Amino acid sequence: MSNSISLNDLKSRDPSYLETIFSLANGHFGIRASDPIIGSDTAGTVVNGFYEISKIIYGEKAFGYADNNQTIVKLPDLRTINIYDNQGNKFDISNLKTESLNMNTGLLTSTYELSNNISGKTIELTVNSTLQQSDNQMVGLRYEIKPLSYSGNIKLTKHLNIVASVDTVGDPRRAKAVKTLEYQKDNPNSHQEILTTTTKKSKMSLQMAIYAKDSLEKEYDLSNGKVVFDVIGVVSEPNGKVSTNDLPSFEKIVNDSTNFWSDFWERSEVKITGDDSLNQALHFNLFQLTSSSGRDGKTNISAKGLSGTGYDGHYFWDTEMYMSPFFTYTNPEIAKNLIKYRYSILEDSKKTARAAGVDEGVLFPWRTIGGPEASSYFPAGTAQYHINADISYAVARYYRATNDEDLIKKYGMEIIIETARFWNSLGSYSKINGKDQFCFFDVTGPDEYTAIVNNNYYTNRMAKFNLGFAVELIDKFPEKATELGVTTEERNNFLKESKSIYLPYDSEKKINEQDDSAFNKPIWPFETTPKENYPLLLHYHPLRIYRYQVNKQADTLLADFLFDDITKEQLIREYDYYEKITTHDSSLSRSIFSALAARIGLKNKAYSYFMDTVKTDLIDLQKNTQDGLHIANLGGSWLTVVSGFGGLQVKNGSLTIANHLPDEWKKLSIRLQFQGRLLEINYLPSKIDVSILSGEPLKIIVDGVCRKDS
Ligand code: BGC
Repeated sequence: MSNSISLNDLKSRDPSYLETIFSLANGHFGIRASDPIIGSDTAGTVVNGFYEISKIIYGEKAFGYADNNQTIVKLPDLRTINIYDNQGNKFDISNLKTESLNMNTGLLTSTYELSNNISGKTIELTVNSTLQQSDNQMVGLRYEIKPLSYSGNIKLTKHLNIVASVDTVGDPRRAKAVKTLEYQKDNPNSHQEILTTTTKKSKMSLQMAIYAKDSLEKEYDLSNGKVVFDVIGVVSEPNGKVSTNDLPSFEKIVNDSTNFWSDFWERSEVKITGDDSLNQALHFNLFQLTSSSGRDGKTNISAKGLSGTGYDGHYFWDTEMYMSPFFTYTNPEIAKNLIKYRYSILEDSKKTARAAGVDEGVLFPWRTIGGPEASSYFPAGTAQYHINADISYAVARYYRATNDEDLIKKYGMEIIIETARFWNSLGSYSKINGKDQFCFFDVTGPDEYTAIVNNNYYTNRMAKFNLGFAVELIDKFPEKATELGVTTEERNNFLKESKSIYLPYDSEKKINEQDDSAFNKPIWPFETTPKENYPLLLHYHPLRIYRYQVNKQADTLLADFLFDDITKEQLIREYDYYEKITTHDSSLSRSIFSALAARIGLKNKAYSYFMDTVKTDLIDLQKNTQDGLHIANLGGSWLTVVSGFGGLQVKNGSLTIANHLPDEWKKLSIRLQFQGRLLEINYLPSKIDVSILSGEPLKIIVDGVCRKDS
């Protein structure tokens, strides 16, 4: 089966939607698949970690609020080209004919029919674009022009065009305009152009260059047929410089990209037999997730990856809970670098904790690029303290999947101790049900339709884990613990707190309660809410939403998914209760509902949530794919397959898998890495086969039975 996505696979032809779907990236920078002739307001290049700051203007500012916005910078579009006929008339009308992204090679091919109103004559332009993946600063662009009704001389001119940043209003998920950039263009000779962009406030700089072998302005005669014009683009690191010496050819970049993706599929293949369109969608998700991820330890994965500027290019908890699982089990090096990034912002995170009035430890920012908190709405931002435990959970997941003690000693353990210190300082004991229980007041859980509540179940359950993991590491690495200043008293406090954390439970409903007051509130009037009023966040004041039982996304159920620590009967009751009050207005929701349904055996639900999850961007389910891909959901779709249908968990140090294959599938094959081995797991309706493709035999728990596979 071909591993590609083309126009025929998509319902919409909206140009900005297509720009997102066909965007290309390599962890360092991303280019949107703009029309190279017409361009657009949303076209352009984004570079991971290159952002401008601006003062957050508050109507009423209180102590400790975040000071600055951080906004990812949209740089000139590298695909743009101008083509003129022999009268000097520009071909300025462009119609996209075909477009196809090959996920085996990373090559995007887009074909346009061009004309103008003056002569009415046509030519055909094909743009082949691909990014270098190994040394990830290059893009290769090959322009092929064919005569149609016009076959005279043409002139091509290729420059880096600066476009003004456009204001967006009314949707908090879209990026702010950046108007404080300075540009300097240099044309050292006819075959190269260098653009230096400087941000006035954050004081960063970035260079982009384009290079053509002969000249960036060239004439061709179309009467002999097709002409080919190659351009290589270079994008520096933030604050770095480009070099245009010894640039690779277009073919070399294609080879580099092909090798990268072939190695990628070898290690990360997931194949569904029985539904080609699901298989294709899943491949698209993994391709784009990997393209989006920072790989250098200095950058992370923004909510929209490098496919657009939505959410200002910020990194959220999305990384740890939805994206890094895939890397942990298929490319641990990337998972490790994502942890190193978090380590690099520990100092800023100390400041965030102090600003929130917590005297010890760190509080990772709810949203950021450079490290400081950039959330201007603390009830659904900074108060989501659970991000601390989410990051700790990702460190533990990585450690259990790799046994990488080096990472723990150099980076991980400090993160775990500092986050545990935060919980210790934030919490306090209260007498509940006759016992002293450790509580956290005025926090916000993952569900952003409920804010500033006491004892959010998810937060408390995660903090319990975080404190317990700190104790495990202190006991295992006592020297490192001493180096980090941990005393016996502190260790014992962590242990006691982790054992006494209060977990709200409603004994009448016999389910975990989202927070102390959740079940006292009335249920949102779903029957009288018009369809067009979803997502609720765009139609109702937050205060109105907060007054009701209504969830934007999985919250308590996410804890159930992660810890698998309640009985199946309770899980079924909980699922049933929370499903009725969840809108899935966040794209982070459905994957968890699908995975849990698969575990419980609710086959139809599991399948239907999965259909939406896996195709979220391909069917534009959230209706804002034009602003960028929903990267957490891309990772979520892998989680659903592997941990939902495939039952993967690590329990007591052992890899555990279970067969929850949907009836519609004949077979599911998953490749993954675990403790230095490459595994292939094949799920068939009546059995699971595991092969160790490289590495030592491994003890695996399959459908509850211990097996030694090799
Ligand atoms: C979700 C958050 C998420 C953010 C970025 C919001 O809509 O509620 O959980 O972190 O989007 O993806």
